[in-house]
Amino acid sequence: MSASVVAFRGVGKSYGEFRAVEGLSFDVAPGSIYGFLGPNGAGKTTSLRMMLGMIRPSAGTISVLGSDSAMGVRERVGYLPEERGLYRRMTPVETIVYLARLKGMEARPARARALELLERFGLAAFGHKKIETLSKGMAQKVQILATIAHAPDLVILDEPFSGLDPVNQQVLEDLIVDLHREGRTVLFSTHVMQHAERLCDRLLLIARGRLAFEGTLDEARARLPRTIRLKTSSDAASLAALPGVARVVPDEAPGAFELMLAPGADGEGVLRACFERGLALARFDMGEPALHDIFVALVGEGAQVADARETA
Ligand SMILES: Nc1ncnc2c1ncn2[C@@H]1O[C@H](COP(=O)(O)OP(=O)(O)OP(=O)(O)O)[C@@H](O)[C@H]1O
Ligand SMILES: [Mg+2]
Repeated sequence: MSASVVAFRGVGKSYGEFRAVEGLSFDVAPGSIYGFLGPNGAGKTTSLRMMLGMIRPSAGTISVLGSDSAMGVRERVGYLPEERGLYRRMTPVETIVYLARLKGMEARPARARALELLERFGLAAFGHKKIETLSKGMAQKVQILATIAHAPDLVILDEPFSGLDPVNQQVLEDLIVDLHREGRTVLFSTHVMQHAERLCDRLLLIARGRLAFEGTLDEARARLPRTIRLKTSSDAASLAALPGVARVVPDEAPGAFELMLAPGADGEGVLRACFERGLALARFDMGEPALHDIFVALVGEGAQVADARETA
């Protein structure tokens, strides 16, 4: 039995001829924050639904907390589905209590927990108002709180940030960090890279149902060539002659250039070579590739997912 909280081995899901997910393997370590990234239609929700046991894989095996799906360990799992929805006539307190009780909590502690969570997340004043009187973002917050009310060991959130304003996105980031500090495992999907960049220990990029990348953010960064932005009175030819420089792209400003480094080359080596050759530098910025750039580089062609499907 694997020590992973979630393990996928060669998991696939086909709808007729169309392969929504294919050959997906990865492990989520206990206590980690794991990002599930990919463009629209990549297969994120399909993968999470298979993890939850809501749909059956066409191929491969899944293990969740040692069970063959989250259904077998449902009291230890919290799940925020992609499609939001609460009973509009219930209040936030009733909603959280109801869902927590479905996950095995007793009524009294469930109610205390609901009040505590609503207080902590700024919704105390709305605890006893009907959900239908709440804004969409507020209702989503209630649904997130209901997902974690029973203190699950594994929290699975499908696009939890979408629909929240910047302040509440930060509140949710803080909540995820809190869950992590409590030793829980959090897995969330997103196509907004910045959240994953700030939060995730490891991430998985999926495009067209296939794994494009799995690893740490540093490992993802290492996949992209480094770039340097600099300003100099020297010319492009002298820059191109520097060891480790693969390509020189002039910027708009006079004397400004972007250098694309060769794979494995580092910025310090280029800086040293500039000094040794007496190149006058007015500016020298070694950029870290943003996760956004990595995403575009690794799964950029995922935008054609609909076409791929038509020709499949
Ligand atoms: N029940 C179904 N029948 C047929 N095709 C399906 C079904 N469910 C999903 N698909 C297809 O599988 C692919 C993956 O869908 P999925 O919902 O997993 O994507 P996603 O990565 O969650 O995208 P998004 O970011 O838009 O939520 C899509 O092409 C979708 O049309
Ligand atoms: Mg989805």
